[in-house]
Amino acid sequence: MAHAKYFMLLEKKRWLAPIPAKPQKVLDLACGTGHIDFADANPSAEVIGVDIAPIQPKCRNPPSRQARTPKSNNSNNRHLKPGGWLEFQCIDGSLKCDDGTVPETSQFKEYDRLLRAAATAFGTPLEDPTGYAKWFEGAGFEGVTERVFKMPTNPWPKDPRLRLVGALEQENLTGNLEGISTRVFQKGLGWGADESSVFFAAVRKDIKNRRHHSYYPFYVVYGQKPLLTAT
Ligand SMILES: C[S@@+](CC[C@H](N)C(=O)[O-])C[C@H]1O[C@@H](n2cnc3c(N)ncnc32)[C@H](O)[C@@H]1O
Repeated sequence: MAHAKYFMLLEKKRWLAPIPAKPQKVLDLACGTGHIDFADANPSAEVIGVDIAPIQPKCRNPPSRQARTPKSNNSNNRHLKPGGWLEFQCIDGSLKCDDGTVPETSQFKEYDRLLRAAATAFGTPLEDPTGYAKWFEGAGFEGVTERVFKMPTNPWPKDPRLRLVGALEQENLTGNLEGISTRVFQKGLGWGADESSVFFAAVRKDIKNRRHHSYYPFYVVYGQKPLLTAT
C-alpha cells in the first residue's frame, strides 16, 4: 500500500533520474518489494534489491531480479560506475502545514515534536533528507536535482490524486502507529506501555481530522557520477 502511495505521489513514476534507455545494472537499497516494478519496466537491467527484511515474494525472483539481505553501507559513490545515476527518496519526517490549520494543541503535532527529538537523540534525525542535495554535491555528483512533494497525512486535499495519497498515508500512520513509534517512545523517551497507548489513541484521532491540513515533505534527490573522475 505504501508503495502505491509513493507511486501516486510521484505522478505514476518510480524514479525521477533521467537514466538512459536500457539500463544494465541497478541496485535498489531498502527495496522492500519495490525492485520488482523497476525490473518489470526495464527488462534490459539486472536488478538487485537489498533489504534488511526478507519480504520479497520468491515466486517473482528470476536471476535478474535478485533480493539479498546484506548489511547496508555508505559506499554508494564507490560502487557506482562513472556516468551512473544515484537517487535517494525519503520523507522528511517533520510535520508541516502551510495554512495554520493545525493547532499547537494537536496531539499529532505533539507526537511530531517528541518523535523528532527522540530520533535526533538516537543519532538518526528525521530531517536528514533536507541535506541530501548538499551531500550529493559534496560527494562530487553532477546535475544534482532536488524535488520535494507534499504528502498529505489524511484525505484533506481537494485534488483527487493528493486526496488518494492522503487516504493511503492516513491508513499507513493510523494502522502502524505502534509499529513506527513504540521503540522510540518506550526505549528512547522512557514512556510506559499504558501511557504510550493512551497517547497514540489521541494521536490517531488528530491524524484523521480533515480540518488539519498537515503533510510530510517527500524528498527525491538525484545526481550523476562524473564520467571523468580525478585520480
Ligand atoms: C519505506 S520502506 C521502502 C520500501 C521500497 N523502497 C518501496 O518504495 O516500496 C523502507 C524499507 O527500508 C528497509 N530498511 C530499513 N533499514 C534498513 C537497512 N539498514 N538496510 C536495508 N534495508 C533497510 C525496510 O525493511 C523497508 O523495506
